[in-house]
Amino acid sequence: AQVREAWDERTRGVLLASPSNPTGTSIEPDEMRAIVEAVRERGGVTIVDEIYLGLSYEERFSHSALAFGIDDVISVNSFSKYFGMTGWRLGWLVLPPALVAPVEKLAQNLFICASSIAQHAALACFEPEAIAEYERRREAFRARRDYVVPALQSLGLSVPVMPDGAFYAWIDCSAFTASSWDFAFELMESAQIALTPGRDFGRLGSERWLRLSFASSMEHLQEAIARLATVLKKQR
Ligand SMILES: Cc1ncc(COP(=O)(O)O)c(C=O)c1O
Repeated sequence: AQVREAWDERTRGVLLASPSNPTGTSIEPDEMRAIVEAVRERGGVTIVDEIYLGLSYEERFSHSALAFGIDDVISVNSFSKYFGMTGWRLGWLVLPPALVAPVEKLAQNLFICASSIAQHAALACFEPEAIAEYERRREAFRARRDYVVPALQSLGLSVPVMPDGAFYAWIDCSAFTASSWDFAFELMESAQIALTPGRDFGRLGSERWLRLSFASSMEHLQEAIARLATVLKKQR
């Protein structure tokens, strides 16, 4: 309904991220299919950032939008998250055949090619031992999510959506502060906890929100929760 409502004569497509950053939630497959179909009916392209797809904790969310077999879907992905190669600047697009040549032309104007060292390193990602390690890490992320979300809630911080992918918890801190931006600085300065203020992700209600990343170790997360508890007790 939102796609239909927002579409006008200047619209060319829809850009989505699923699982998303900062909420860690995915778009229901039926809903994603309906969006792709609505966009296609209007002659547009759906671009889906699927960078966290490998870090889905539920089977039903772990399939690419390409699996619908509908044309006019572009999938964006990268070695940065599931494969742990953040900073290696290596990613990929899957394009409808008609868009390959135009996107090649565009890409040539932005860079010559992906780093060859990164490409060689990425080949190792597909070795069975590497995949086994990535799967162990995915389970470790799930365990951290299962620890950190209830722990935040027990401190009186609400996490209104349970992340089903990625490694983020989206925290409503409005019970403690009117400005998540100021609160993030206060937590950094007084307790050395780094959380990302909502303003970094858009303007809608941004002062309510903080994003926690559970890409840190379980020990660090436990320490962060203990320090948060101390700060929040004073804040009340
Ligand atoms: C949804 C999403 N897309 C893309 C990126 C960027 O990834 P890359 O390291 O491949 O540029 C991020 C990184 O945080 C992300 O959260």
